[in-house]
Amino acid sequence: MCMCMTGKIYPLPDGRGTVVGAPLISLIISLIIRHAIIPDVNILDELRNEVASCTLCSELADFRTQTVFGDGTIEAEVMFIGEAPGADEDAQGIPFVGRAGRFMNECMAQVGIPRSKVFIANTLKCRPPDNRNPQPEEMDNCSTFLTAQIAIINPKIIAPLGNFGLQRMISNKYKIGEVHGRPIRRRDGLIYFPMYHPAAALHRANLRETIQIDFKKLAKLLKREGLL
Ligand code: URA
Repeated sequence: MCMCMTGKIYPLPDGRGTVVGAPLISLIISLIIRHAIIPDVNILDELRNEVASCTLCSELADFRTQTVFGDGTIEAEVMFIGEAPGADEDAQGIPFVGRAGRFMNECMAQVGIPRSKVFIANTLKCRPPDNRNPQPEEMDNCSTFLTAQIAIINPKIIAPLGNFGLQRMISNKYKIGEVHGRPIRRRDGLIYFPMYHPAAALHRANLRETIQIDFKKLAKLLKREGLL
């Protein structure tokens, strides 16, 4: 067992130490200190290791093949935030590699946004059984990792994909159908650009064009901001 700085007690499987459950600040400080001591260490890879050993959501930890940390470059100016890994992502350990991911790749290619220049993450790093919706407690548990990813990558634009990403990142009072394709600029300069989840186009064919148009708008925004 581990008494973390929150005062909560978390079980440590196999006696392995982990900072999961500690406040975000202590996670980030520990990563920064390690980076300072060993400059060659990739801080994002360090975080990836923390994610891989997480067992906070025991049902997800038991069910997963592996965690799905995220995909992309630490230098990304745009970060997409999806929902949770599906079966293909769980098998490959990479987000958005199934049907929805292939459609997303197509949309990005059409407007000249290279996947290699963005970072793609999810609200959950583990696949929920039967692809059920992420539960609020699971998203709370995982939010330390998502917030740390955002802090490390420091993107100029965050594009939540679908309601889960939107409500996690911005507010519960928004619905994706009402705010997609419209930039929301924060006072500190960060821009949110909510978009439909690419999987929505697989279930509702009429959203295909809407999503393609929103990717066009995103590319335009990137150009206007000097990021593409
Ligand atoms: N859907 C998501 O939200 N994330 C993935 O990684 C794949 C499908």
